[in-house]
Amino acid sequence: MTTPRDRLIVALDVQDATTARAMVDRLAGHVGMFKVGTQIFTAAGPDFVREVIARGEKVFLDLKFHDIPNTVAGAVSSAGQLGVSLVDVHALGGKDMMEAAVGALPATGIRLIAITILTSHEEETLGTIGVSGSVADSVRRLAVLSREAGADGVVASPQEVALVREACGPDFLIVTPGIRPVGSSRGDQSRTATPAAAVAAGADYIVVGRPILEATDPAAAADAIVRELTGR
Ligand code: C5P
Repeated sequence: MTTPRDRLIVALDVQDATTARAMVDRLAGHVGMFKVGTQIFTAAGPDFVREVIARGEKVFLDLKFHDIPNTVAGAVSSAGQLGVSLVDVHALGGKDMMEAAVGALPATGIRLIAITILTSHEEETLGTIGVSGSVADSVRRLAVLSREAGADGVVASPQEVALVREACGPDFLIVTPGIRPVGSSRGDQSRTATPAAAVAAGADYIVVGRPILEATDPAAAADAIVRELTGR
């Protein structure tokens, strides 16, 4: 069974292993998973990922693989060996690439999700890279393609959760960043939702970075989000 705490993924967007380790110490037991993205992975590498997993925590390896199918399959296979729980690829890499990624997953314990359209893109910027139509149409098309390729789900902004849920059905995983608890600063996120609103719209997991990382008491900030998800 998925508990409200399981649904909370904290983005370890910090500069170095020492800072990340200190944050894991403070948050272990208060969140469901730690997201290791390109910033901390480039600084601290796979050893840091192994260390977090060795202490019994789950890791979402958010490296957004996008390469030829054979290379992405190799990268996903390495992620499987690290023991991460979630890994992602860019759906724009195409169906063959996603199928190769799915084929490289170990039999159990890891799920693969796809990035559709980055939330930093708008219709005009999509046009400049040759993608026509609205952002919503592209998100829907790429989510369906990801599901057809065998991916377990997608990353979707709060605004896209409902359309992905509608297009891909109830069992497709939706992981949602851009979460801002009531009263917290938006930072550079423009399309945001509260934790409860994102889950009510259909998100399975929420990704929260700065509202937890920059809190005076990160564990208390995480607990407050879990309480909000529990409805108390
Ligand atoms: O600090 P904040 O809560 O905005 O962090 C959100 C996290 O989710 C960051 O790690 C960011 O890279 C990631 N993310 C996002 N929008 C996406 C995909 C990932 O904000 N579309």
